[in-house]
Amino acid sequence: MKYLVTGTAGFIGLHVSLRLLREGHEVVGLDNMNSYYDPALKTYRLAQLNPYERFTFLELDLTDRQGIAELFRGEHFDRVIHLAAQAGVRHSLKAPFDYVDSNLVGMMTILEGCRHQQVEHLVFASSSSVYGMNSTIPFSETDSVDYPVSLYAATKKSCELMAHSYAHLYGLPVTGLRFFTVYGPGGRPDMAPWLFTEAIVNDQPIKVFNHGEMARDFTYIDDVVECVARLQNVIPGWQRQEEGTARAPYKIYNVGNHQPVELKRFIAAIEQSCGKTAEKIYLDMQPGDVLKTYADTSRLNAVISYAPQRSIEQGVEHFVRWYQDSWLSGGRDADDGRHKLRC
Ligand SMILES: NC(=O)c1ccc[n+]([C@@H]2O[C@H](COP(=O)([O-])OP(=O)(O)OC[C@H]3O[C@@H](n4cnc5c(N)ncnc54)[C@H](O)[C@@H]3O)[C@@H](O)[C@H]2O)c1
Repeated sequence: MKYLVTGTAGFIGLHVSLRLLREGHEVVGLDNMNSYYDPALKTYRLAQLNPYERFTFLELDLTDRQGIAELFRGEHFDRVIHLAAQAGVRHSLKAPFDYVDSNLVGMMTILEGCRHQQVEHLVFASSSSVYGMNSTIPFSETDSVDYPVSLYAATKKSCELMAHSYAHLYGLPVTGLRFFTVYGPGGRPDMAPWLFTEAIVNDQPIKVFNHGEMARDFTYIDDVVECVARLQNVIPGWQRQEEGTARAPYKIYNVGNHQPVELKRFIAAIEQSCGKTAEKIYLDMQPGDVLKTYADTSRLNAVISYAPQRSIEQGVEHFVRWYQDSWLSGGRDADDGRHKLRC
């Protein structure tokens, strides 16, 4: 089959594209290669994909309405996996319009392309951040997510609403995935696994927010890829999300580990893998942050007979090995695909 994967030079986009290519599919990967974080990492990721004959890279911005419309007019995609977005809760306080542009306008151009081309299935990335300060745990897809605490979360919830309307109006089958703190080799430099590892390796102090009283449902990248690979084959039929609401071929799934990890245990795992103890600066909670994330994965497990399960100690060990052995020793300078990911 032929797939469009947006955000292909991003962390999750790389791994999902690799999986599809290894299964023999054709992948058109789209990314604008923005500099929200070091573009060298995006080049490094593309270098993993370029050797595949069935991979084509397209540098294009989602907000380029004409460009995206032309793409869909010129090529037929069986399925679209839409992962490109402006990610990061904290950055949404500093650069709100980046979120409006990439996440809202970007979702719109993809929805329009998919409906005109009658794509078989659109799978898109939402986020656990839509649960905000939800106090009912674990977080269930049926919980109310009407009260976001960051603009990032608000845009992801908006993407879900936009997707539902297109599913209802045009019969476009859409699946939204609420990812829970994804980490692993090739991960994002703005997230805690990278920030802490980098600081500890360089003997720099780490900032521990809310004095360490936080927990995250960390989800290892291989588990996430497995879920995406299986779910893109589960095309939602017409259904109501709740009694008394409109029918649409639409479904939302939590993609999490169902195992919240205390910040202290997470830091201890990185210290163990780095073989060093971190100097810690304890700080208050940051605006927009949430205390705990915890995924109810029963809906996920029911349809794909799989749910993420990797322990934080195993996952962190893989990430730290990759960071030291692959990224620091040459990966940063990749341009020709010689540096392979060790997952
Ligand atoms: N990593 C996580 O823990 C996590 C958690 C929840 C949700 N998500 C969501 O999953 C998706 C992938 O996340 P990621 O961690 O791989 O992030 P990432 O930042 O590594 O990847 C996103 C990619 O999208 C590209 N992009 C951004 N705006 C674009 C635009 N306007 N046009 C074209 N390309 C654009 C970026 O260049 C980047 O390569 C995102 O939608 C993110 O919001 C991620």
